[in-house]
Amino acid sequence: MQASRHDAHPPDDAETELTPAQWDAAYRGAPRWDIGRPQPAFQRLADSGALTGRVLDVGCGTGEHVLMCTALGLDATGVDLSAAALAAAVDKARDRGLTARFLQLDVRRLAELDERFDTVLDSGLFMPVSNDETNHATYLNALHAVLNPGGRYFILCFRSQPNNDRPGHGHHHAFSVEDIAAAFSERWRLNSSEATTLDGVGDRENIPAWLIALTRS
Ligand SMILES: C[S@@+](CC[C@H](N)C(=O)[O-])C[C@H]1O[C@@H](n2cnc3c(N)ncnc32)[C@H](O)[C@@H]1O
Repeated sequence: MQASRHDAHPPDDAETELTPAQWDAAYRGAPRWDIGRPQPAFQRLADSGALTGRVLDVGCGTGEHVLMCTALGLDATGVDLSAAALAAAVDKARDRGLTARFLQLDVRRLAELDERFDTVLDSGLFMPVSNDETNHATYLNALHAVLNPGGRYFILCFRSQPNNDRPGHGHHHAFSVEDIAAAFSERWRLNSSEATTLDGVGDRENIPAWLIALTRS
């Protein structure tokens, strides 16, 4: 990893794992995924009533999706590696008069929470934790441990584009439906994969994405 890589907005181009310090460095700037409001696809999901029970937002960043849930009266917890992101999330909760819980934790160690959740939200976390098979397997085991049987896992991730040598608008971590199905072939049921979009800051809107819904067995 080059020292300057984090200044270049890591999740789009990082091929190796980023450290908490590198994620913090991104948050000291203006990360292009941190749009200051929920992703529209997750907002629609919340509005539809699909989010129920205890909610966990993995890689919650500055907390927009956790706060979206608590504003709906749900019990929501956000976990992230980045202390800088979590500090911003706590400030937002205070400013908005909302009660939410934010924890600094590597998602691969979720089982250490010794808690169970009914719904997990993931906007942009699946991409960095799926950059190698070991990471991916460790993460899915940890996630399985904290989700109740029948619990739902919603992922918003970049969608690869057919006939495009720069899939997902140049994002290395762009997935096809086949990638997703293979990643969850055991112990998960793939309920739906909806072609949608992700927003980024500035003019980075309508980036091709998947909204994936899975159920834990
Ligand atoms: C692309 S950002 C998305 C943030 C947030 N979900 C959003 O939609 O704005 C990915 C987030 O995952 C966090 N992250 C990356 N790897 C992680 C890990 N192993 N454990 C916990 N958080 C992680 C990063 O610190 C970052 O906040």
